[in-house]
Amino acid sequence: MALTSSSSKSCAIFCIFLFLGNVASATLFTLQNNCKYTVWLGTLSGNNPTALDTGLTLTSGSSFQMTVQAGWSGRFWGRTGCNFDSAGNGKCATGNCLGGLKCTGGGVPPVTLVEFTTGSVGNGNKDFYDVSLVDGYNVPMGVRAIGGTGDCQYASCEHDLNGNCPKELQVKDATGSVVACKSACVAFNTPEYCCTGEHSTPQTCSPTNYSKIFKNACPKAYSYAYDDASSTFTCSGANYTISFCPMESS
Ligand SMILES: *[C@@H]1O[C@H](CO)[C@@H](O)[C@H](O)[C@H]1NC(C)=O
Ligand SMILES: *[C@@H]1O[C@H](CO)[C@@H](O)[C@H](O)[C@H]1NC(C)=O
Repeated sequence: MALTSSSSKSCAIFCIFLFLGNVASATLFTLQNNCKYTVWLGTLSGNNPTALDTGLTLTSGSSFQMTVQAGWSGRFWGRTGCNFDSAGNGKCATGNCLGGLKCTGGGVPPVTLVEFTTGSVGNGNKDFYDVSLVDGYNVPMGVRAIGGTGDCQYASCEHDLNGNCPKELQVKDATGSVVACKSACVAFNTPEYCCTGEHSTPQTCSPTNYSKIFKNACPKAYSYAYDDASSTFTCSGANYTISFCPMESS
């Protein structure tokens, strides 16, 4: 009698767990542009691709929502200085992708990246997310969890790194303004900066004078390939707001 009641109780708990695991699986992203300028969103799906909008125009103050299924992984970035015709053909000063307005691949570095893997039953229903400057920086970005449980920290690179980008890393537009900042890996492509070859492990790839500039300005973002301890966050059951220029008010 006691056995039956105990096992039916644990079965009930298990069933609720399965039910939540299977149903509370979609993740809602709100992309918000708080910048004073237009940003053209780019998205790229890796694992478990969802029919996401792969590129769209976010005018200053506007937002857009999209939902992905459990176990999705992919990235979001912003493109600036774009010129598209009515068919969506054209290019951008930063974050340019193949395909024009609708990206058919990733953005050309340097871009600030928001990287995500959403929870699935296979990984304990945990979302993993970060802001990465590993390939460089173009616009400020932030990721805020709404609801959820776990290490649901705010991931961000809120500050303008273009303003204190070393000369040898700068990307300028036609008018001479600094519009993006390369990582040292993108600029110099050496094992020391890219964590390749004899520097391909966390023990042999240390922060550099360049990655430290990024880390000092943006402590809640990845500044180089093995900078994970302080930069990846995990959260379960949340939705997320991904903002461009998160410090500015919408
Ligand atoms: C996430 O968004 C969905 C769709 O709007 C909503 O049903 C759900 O309650 C939200 N979850 C949280 C944790 O806010
Ligand atoms: C970083 O270190 C390299 C190699 O020691 C040096 O050439 C470069 O000038 C330094 N750059 C900055 C911004 O400190």
